[in-house]
Amino acid sequence: MSDGGPAVRRLADWDREHLLSLADEFGSPLYVTDLQRVRENCSRLHSAFPDAHVSYAVKAHTGRAVLEAVRETGIDAECAAAGEVERALDAGFPGDRIRYTAVNPPAADLDHVISRWEENPEMTVTVGAADTIDRLRERGFDGRLCLRANPGVGAGHHEKVTTGGHAKFGIPIDRVPDIADDVRDEFDLVGVHAHAGSGISGDDLSAHRELVRRMGDLAREVGDLEFVDVGGGFGVPYRDDEPPLDLDAVADATREALGETDARLAIEPGRYVVADAGVLLSRVNTVKETPETTVVGIDAGMTTLLRPAMYDAYHAISNLSRPDAEAVPTIVSGPVCETSDVFADGRSLARSERGDVLAIGNAGAYGYEMASTYNSRPRPAEVVLDGSDTRVARRRETLDDVTLLERTASETIPN
Ligand code: LLP
Repeated sequence: MSDGGPAVRRLADWDREHLLSLADEFGSPLYVTDLQRVRENCSRLHSAFPDAHVSYAVKAHTGRAVLEAVRETGIDAECAAAGEVERALDAGFPGDRIRYTAVNPPAADLDHVISRWEENPEMTVTVGAADTIDRLRERGFDGRLCLRANPGVGAGHHEKVTTGGHAKFGIPIDRVPDIADDVRDEFDLVGVHAHAGSGISGDDLSAHRELVRRMGDLAREVGDLEFVDVGGGFGVPYRDDEPPLDLDAVADATREALGETDARLAIEPGRYVVADAGVLLSRVNTVKETPETTVVGIDAGMTTLLRPAMYDAYHAISNLSRPDAEAVPTIVSGPVCETSDVFADGRSLARSERGDVLAIGNAGAYGYEMASTYNSRPRPAEVVLDGSDTRVARRRETLDDVTLLERTASETIPN
């Protein structure tokens, strides 16, 4: 396995000339994903949590090359939907390295996952509602079952990603022991699970600790479990002056809060594995000077990278074409007819000109995955770097693709 590399990879650490050549060769907007950094991030997780069972939350970046790289490091797959289970199987994860975490699962998802489980009976299914157990039962499932608890405590970079404590997720923690007793004879009860939320920083460690403490108590009360999964959520620094999370300190705090338990600690980070392994390249379409500011219109928008519009998320931005230009207060906006289609407002950025290439940092997690075709905009392409090897992982959508589902509507199979 590769070594863990630096604790953080900032936008300035990318090879500027190389990124510019990628934008020239493959067009824009373009996601660039570096597999070597994915491996380094996996390696740091292994080093900080040597005794833990580590899964990767596939939802952060589902690309096949990323999944293969993660699998090769020995990290397993945590999947939130039937499509993610499909992708994990496709990327070579065997059933015993796949966990499916059902959140209000549609019938079609359960049907599909259970058919996969029949072929891969070592797959684990996690449920966050008692009636999902009935729905599994109806489908003949009697395999490895994990109970997701609502631990009553959560954390995250935004209220929209604070999961723990929200009634949508998990079974109220004090009801889990009874349910565990009820299902033990019928299923192979292997674990308990909880997830605080996404983007936990050093400041949120007390919430994380409290969640882990409650989960340790739960694991001891339920007893005879293979693992206690305390979720993912490890944050990465999005701002240049933000320090990286001290993963060793998080690991120490986690072990201490968990206390003695026969169940093995399990974690399932997503963002930490892929965020700084990706950048988004975008070209300047329009530069508009107003009395107050400069508006730089780029060819990526909220349809390409949704996080700023949805969570007011900060992403570092730099003008690769003009590293030495004078910095001016700038609005960086996309081409979508929405006021929220703005990547930065009041940001001090190199004075840009039409055709310049901007790089947006930390785009590897929840970037391409949350892209849409709103405003009938085709989704971007993605290239994957692996050492000196560069290949197109996802082709750019075309305007033809945008109307494909309408043109082929008559072929639709009713659900
Ligand atoms: N486990 C469960 C059950 C989860 O729901 C999630 C994320 C994770 C693990 C991984 O969390 P991570 O380590 O990546 O923080 N779109 C949002 C993030 C949503 C996360 C949803 N669940 C964003 O762009 O910030």
